[in-house]
Amino acid sequence: MEQSTYPWARFEPVPLIGDVTPACSKELAEFLAVLGEIRPLSKAHAEALPGAINALSRILTEARAEMTKPYWSNQDFVSAYLYYFLPWNLVRLTRFFAGLCPETPAKGSWIVDIGTGPGTVPLALWFAKPAWRTIPLTLCLQDSQRSVLPLAKRLCERVFCRGNSPWKVVIAKEPVASLSRRLLGESLALVTCANVINEWVSRRSLGEWDFSARINAFLEQLSPLLVHKQAPWCVCIEPGTRLGGTTIMALRKEALAAGFQIVAPCTHANPCPLLAKERRTWCHCTFDTTGSPAWLNALSEQAQLQKEALSLAPLVFTKKAPKQSKGEIRCISSSFVVPSLSGKARYACAEKGLLLLEDAEGLPQYARLRLEETSLTGLVRDTKSGAICVRSPKEHGQKKARKR
Ligand SMILES: C[S@@+](CC[C@H](N)C(=O)[O-])C[C@H]1O[C@@H](n2cnc3c(N)ncnc32)[C@H](O)[C@@H]1O
Repeated sequence: MEQSTYPWARFEPVPLIGDVTPACSKELAEFLAVLGEIRPLSKAHAEALPGAINALSRILTEARAEMTKPYWSNQDFVSAYLYYFLPWNLVRLTRFFAGLCPETPAKGSWIVDIGTGPGTVPLALWFAKPAWRTIPLTLCLQDSQRSVLPLAKRLCERVFCRGNSPWKVVIAKEPVASLSRRLLGESLALVTCANVINEWVSRRSLGEWDFSARINAFLEQLSPLLVHKQAPWCVCIEPGTRLGGTTIMALRKEALAAGFQIVAPCTHANPCPLLAKERRTWCHCTFDTTGSPAWLNALSEQAQLQKEALSLAPLVFTKKAPKQSKGEIRCISSSFVVPSLSGKARYACAEKGLLLLEDAEGLPQYARLRLEETSLTGLVRDTKSGAICVRSPKEHGQKKARKR
């Protein structure tokens, strides 16, 4: 469907997930050479790599309870993370950061990445935000597993130096609370945390109360950084799995209760419609693998972990009220047929709750758009989901025209 002709186009939808430029695709492809320099593999290790990737994937997704030691202390798993999980997270996060528009950081400001692992978020920011590369910034890498930090620093420095950038990399071995005290006098631009919180909540099966308590404890740890005078955006990204999505939804609830404002993906501060007990889904977005390097696809196939699509569950929040305009909604699903509606419909999330947008196939996935006040009057609810049905704006336009 042609972008400019679909019924919702005049609402100027803004996608959540950005595009990969050809230059960025090339850099992601060339990242293999950086890995080869920082973590060269012998022939035997290269042959064992697909097996190690498969084993680490099982541990991270299904068998965390079997993990008696951190994966950073197992050399096979370090290689598996660097050659498979890091680059896939880079593709995912690069697309996400390309779509996210925080203010351009001021010269001399800091970006703090909590649970950095091999420096994934700073690397993704490098790939996603070429316009930031000339700004002198300090990238602060923090992780509870100190052993991974020197490796993260070397990887980041290798990439940033090759680009002749003034980005400086520092590692923080202390817990977040003491790091926050140390950074009191610094200008903080962003606080990031990717694929970390699920590690907190999945170590053992938790009851509902323990789950919230753990999320709250994590937020309390981050809070001193977020109340800095610049009120930096906090960008948390979890896997798009049920655990990742429910973690993000719970984090949103706790963040709102603690007085934070949500920047994305939510366009309102009312209770999350997906948190209602009877709903079996969770907030996340899925997108194609555009931008993934051929070498990574080939390695994934060898590890029997080919990817058809990527997903993530993000939450961006801050102490400073973001500019929000009334009536903004967020698409939260792909398009599907609803017998009572024309074209294909999509679910969307709004202040009034869950919506079902008619004729919405042409909208970009997870787009944000602003509806006219009149679109949500005369509510008809979908009998299956209880969502408010929003007629195609084409229909609205025709009715208005006929009235005139
Ligand atoms: C799955 S890795 C993610 C690494 C990286 N952020 C990425 O997206 O590829 C999770 C990382 O979080 C770290 N971690 C877990 N709990 C943490 C905590 N409470 N504080 C800091 N780091 C933590 C782990 O040591 C690990 O390096």
